[in-house]
Amino acid sequence: MDRIGVLTSGGDSPGMNAAIRAVVRSGIYHGLSVVGIRRGFEGIIRDDMREMNLSSVGGIIDRGGTILESARSEAFRTKEGQKKAVSNLKKQGIEGVVVIGGDGSFRGAHELAGAWQIPTIGVPASIDNDITGTDFSIGFDTAANTALDAIDRIRDTAASHERLFVIEVMGRLSGAIALECALAGGAEEVLIPETVSDIPGMCRRLVAGRKRGKTSSIIIIAEGDETGGAFKVAEQISDASGFEVRVSVLGHLQRGGSPSALDRVLAGRLGAAAVEQLVKGQSDKMVGVVANQIEVSNLEYAWKFRKTVDMSLLNLLEVLAS
Ligand code: F6P
Repeated sequence: MDRIGVLTSGGDSPGMNAAIRAVVRSGIYHGLSVVGIRRGFEGIIRDDMREMNLSSVGGIIDRGGTILESARSEAFRTKEGQKKAVSNLKKQGIEGVVVIGGDGSFRGAHELAGAWQIPTIGVPASIDNDITGTDFSIGFDTAANTALDAIDRIRDTAASHERLFVIEVMGRLSGAIALECALAGGAEEVLIPETVSDIPGMCRRLVAGRKRGKTSSIIIIAEGDETGGAFKVAEQISDASGFEVRVSVLGHLQRGGSPSALDRVLAGRLGAAAVEQLVKGQSDKMVGVVANQIEVSNLEYAWKFRKTVDMSLLNLLEVLAS
């Protein structure tokens, strides 16, 4: 193998740039030429690619977002789109591809590897941390800390005004950020898509907390929780308890910003590991870190066995929040 491509796909996450840097620099270290593909799979279809060198990834390790840009490509879902993409890869002499993204991106990677026989390796990057085969996906640690910083600030004003705050964090299908922030931020309650939420029970606990002398409370809700979002929950709490309730939806600010040390090192390790797998002749695999060791798993595990949150942490939250 002489020439590989790298792309970022799906929702961006802090640390993607550090992963691109790792793929480019370790690719060159292994004697390969490395091509950067713009806007994910869309860039392969549109032949939007450029050769990268050591300095094209200089000064990006601390930058959020992705210099290659990202997209969720509809065209690549079609056979016609895939055919065009493969013909462009062949034209460019690209013999292997590193896909940095989440489970949706890995479905595309699996198509390239399986149906089209283009060696492809996935690097897990998603703030949702819901990808099987790795303890952490790139971006989760930064996103959780960004949300936590916001929650800490809200706590200040919540205490000053004796208010209850419902704070919505990202996670359409995953409660990972919500649970992490609830534990780290000392929240009273957390509502996540992985469980059925008991709003009346939660209201009873909040009222009991007030009776014990709590003057303010924080409730964290993941955007995908089945209760229907922070505003609906706030209304129900207000009706059931009479508390003064405010809502804060953190949104996309959680996806941006400079990556944490954990995310940068993780991105460096996984980017380099992905190149090593291609050099070894592997394909259709994802590299991850499990118990601090690099592990290689089948790409399709990412969507067949979706990673869920550690449910024991919900009990811990209840104990610590009492
Ligand atoms: O997958 C990451 C994520 O940030 C989810 O937590 C969120 O639901 C989704 O992406 C938002 O996607 P978009 O940026 O397309 O609105």
